Amino acid sequence: MSRRSFVKVSTASLAAMSIPSLVAAGADAPESPVSLESSAAPAVPQQQQPQAAAPAVRPGDSDAITRAFFDSLLVETRYMDAEKPSTKFELFGETFETPVMTAALSHLRVPGGSGLVVYAQAAAAAGAVHWMGMGEDHDLEEVVATGARTIKVIKPHEDNAEVFRRIRHAVGAGCFAVGMDIDHAFNGTGGYDNVYGLPMKPKSTAEMRSFVQAAGIPFIVKGVLSPSDAKKCLEAGVAGIVLSHHGGRVAYSIPPLLALEQIADVVKGRMKIFIDCGVVSGMDAYKCLALGADAVSVGRHLMPLLRDGADATAARIKAMTAELAGVMAATGVTSLKKMDPTVIHRMAF
Ligand SMILES: Cc1cc2nc3c(=O)[nH]c(=O)nc-3n(C[C@H](O)[C@H](O)[C@H](O)COP(=O)(O)O)c2cc1C
Repeated sequence: MSRRSFVKVSTASLAAMSIPSLVAAGADAPESPVSLESSAAPAVPQQQQPQAAAPAVRPGDSDAITRAFFDSLLVETRYMDAEKPSTKFELFGETFETPVMTAALSHLRVPGGSGLVVYAQAAAAAGAVHWMGMGEDHDLEEVVATGARTIKVIKPHEDNAEVFRRIRHAVGAGCFAVGMDIDHAFNGTGGYDNVYGLPMKPKSTAEMRSFVQAAGIPFIVKGVLSPSDAKKCLEAGVAGIVLSHHGGRVAYSIPPLLALEQIADVVKGRMKIFIDCGVVSGMDAYKCLALGADAVSVGRHLMPLLRDGADATAARIKAMTAELAGVMAATGVTSLKKMDPTVIHRMAF
């Protein structure tokens, strides 16, 4: 599996790019180029494509659909009796400066160092929860050593012994929660996924329960988009779920924020609910929180900033938090616990 060098892509264009197009653009291939690229197969043979072709249009592009849903939501203002808001965020007994978290990324490189470490330093500097995706044991140890309060997401390895080993390692390394991205069990053609040579397999509710019990710290399932999976996570004793389509692994995915209402009805406050995919502003974060999410994660939007360093990346998390506070102030919300879904309106005119 070839490793590509870190390429320069503007923040705006990167935020708009799906993971398959990131791979095509030469960004470091996330996790499984084989399965990801299969959904981005060009409609015309490679040799017939013009040199400077526009990015291929992907029918049912889940990132584009997700963006359209975000933009279809409007907020009403509530100024009377309003007060200054607080964005303090409590999670599993700890307090953070913001509910804007990093997303679980992997294979990040910056000139002269580890992008994973810079990413973690940024989260720590912003007082944000940090998520870590795939990586070697030493990567996770370096990330935790930055002081970032880290949630490690483990792949659904076919070999459960490897899952248990990684859970033990994450707990020992000092992660404050651990989890699994269940949406990486299959490749795009109905077979089991293989990520950098590591075979994957879907997990049963009973297996998930055994991971939860082995962890002994909060266990989170990433890649939930249905009430049915949410119910099974509850049965397994999971502490939180990430509503995510993993940057468009499946075309026509329901936007995580659109899935939220039905899933929240099932969850009824018994698990934390996080959202990722396409969050690029404090306003996006606000809409997720107002509709019932506990926090959001931001991945591709932050990636281009990593080469400018941890402070530059942290500055964007802080700016998004300030944007969130601005919308809270204008909508009469003083704390994250007082978010009110009736502020949100669907564009219907
Ligand atoms: C380079 C890259 C690497 C990723 N690696 C992982 C990973 O190892 N584990 C995981 O659960 N998700 C991984 N993801 C998916 C992200 O966590 C997230 O679900 C996705 O990027 C959508 O969020 P975003 O729109 O904020 O980027 C990766 C995404 C990218 C772009």
